[in-house]
Amino acid sequence: MPTPVNVAVIYYSSTGTVATIARAMAGDAERAGAHVRLRRAAELAPQAAIDSNPAWAENVTATADIPEVSQDDMAWADAVIFGSPTRYGNITAQLKQFIDTLGGMWQAGQLADKVYSGFTSTATAHGGQESTLLALYNTIHHFGGILVTPGYTDPTKFVDGNPYGTSHIAGQGDIPVGEQTLTAARVQAERVVKFTRAIKAGLAAEG
Ligand SMILES: Cc1cc2nc3c(=O)[nH]c(=O)nc-3n(C[C@H](O)[C@H](O)[C@H](O)COP(=O)(O)O)c2cc1C
Repeated sequence: MPTPVNVAVIYYSSTGTVATIARAMAGDAERAGAHVRLRRAAELAPQAAIDSNPAWAENVTATADIPEVSQDDMAWADAVIFGSPTRYGNITAQLKQFIDTLGGMWQAGQLADKVYSGFTSTATAHGGQESTLLALYNTIHHFGGILVTPGYTDPTKFVDGNPYGTSHIAGQGDIPVGEQTLTAARVQAERVVKFTRAIKAGLAAEG
């Protein structure tokens, strides 16, 4: 019987692109045999900003069923897959705010020895997908986490071209998440589950 693993997919999304990838990633991890929690970071923007953008307001409604992330989700997880749209080549304040609440857990060593991975979306092709994921991954080094990225470990990675993590070019919100991004999400989720399982089983065998 394979070692059971808990995967938390924790994301922030304004207009739904990253939310779509997050749902796909959660489903993929589940199909790969993991127990999965899909969680969204709390919104920090004022209601007026949300209301000024129909796609944003629509996404708030469409994801109301997804629980807000809590520190318990981090404690529960053997692996965490973080998702955030890019903001000037960096992650969103909303996801960062959640990460910044984790100081106590970090200090207690509770964020170490877990597997971490990330995904993102941008408006444009060179709008900062790699820099956003690398910025996210800076934090993982401080956690003492184990980064599991897709690399070019699957032939499909030579098609989407991003070894750092799943990424989508959303344009002005007019380019929906399609087959290429969904494939990248599946490959990444399966790889996270596989190595989380292997690491957990290996550590358990070590005693
Ligand atoms: C404040 C702000 C900064 C942004 N910075 C960038 C950027 O540097 N590069 C880029 O390609 N897109 C940028 N975008 C566009 C978003 O990353 C893009 O709309 C996002 O991927 C959509 O994700 P979502 O639908 O999950 O919210 C920015 C958007 C906002 C609101």
